[in-house]
Amino acid sequence: MVSGAIALAFVPLLISLLIRYRFYFVLFYRAVLLRWVQDFNTGLSREERVYEYVLTHATAGDPENILDTFDNWSSNIEFISHIGPKKGLVLDRLLKELCPMTVLELGTHCGYTTVRIARALPLGARLYSVEMDERNARVAEKIIRMAGFDEDTVELIVRPSDEVIPRLREDFGIERLDFVFMDHWKRCYRPDLRALEDSGLLGDGSVVMADNVVFPGAPSFLRHVRQCGLYEHRIHRAALEYIPGIRDGMAELVFRGIK
Ligand SMILES: C[S@@+](CC[C@H](N)C(=O)[O-])C[C@H]1O[C@@H](n2cnc3c(N)ncnc32)[C@H](O)[C@@H]1O
Repeated sequence: MVSGAIALAFVPLLISLLIRYRFYFVLFYRAVLLRWVQDFNTGLSREERVYEYVLTHATAGDPENILDTFDNWSSNIEFISHIGPKKGLVLDRLLKELCPMTVLELGTHCGYTTVRIARALPLGARLYSVEMDERNARVAEKIIRMAGFDEDTVELIVRPSDEVIPRLREDFGIERLDFVFMDHWKRCYRPDLRALEDSGLLGDGSVVMADNVVFPGAPSFLRHVRQCGLYEHRIHRAALEYIPGIRDGMAELVFRGIK
């Protein structure tokens, strides 16, 4: 009797927690629970499932249509953590302004942002995209080629970023990076930014954009950016991809190289 009354007393608290954190519950359901169930039911990874969907619903050679098909899958079928259409517009605008010739992407995943970046590049530009997970990279390679980008425009490098960055000059003949997009594991942002600084490949005006610096967040990366004095920086506030109630943001850093 008493324990029933105590349990009842917690009901309002539970309801208010559910209301307050409803978007996080939605995210947990879509990104974790549904994914487990579908992995079990289909025997495919989520990345392989989205590839099958894109293959059967999108038009080969049409990057816009491929991106829209990804967005449709991620909004209505299963959650997948790529930059999405809203934050994607910020990226599109920046690429249009900068017209970068040499671009590095860290964290290819299924190739959504790779296609988004590649379609915005000027003729003759080259995008190097780094992915350490071989299964994801196999999906990304097919998506990138399906969108119509050959190896001269997009080169996929299947290795961890901390091995790739120090060898970009030697292995790929890169002299300068005009634009870097970071969207891999957030704990790698700071060490990889330091490695890019040490590589000497960032020049005056090189831009580094880092996604998800608010959610899940990259505090040590942001602390370094604020303290090192090498960058002009700003945060573009935006909701998390496909979950409008969760706040997120992208950091835009312009390398100035002045300590
Ligand atoms: C959030 S997803 C990237 C989404 C992608 N940028 C998009 O918007 O379409 C993160 C990806 O980074 C990869 N990754 C994480 N840490 C990495 C690292 N240190 N080096 C290379 N790839 C990494 C993961 O395997 C995963 O596929």
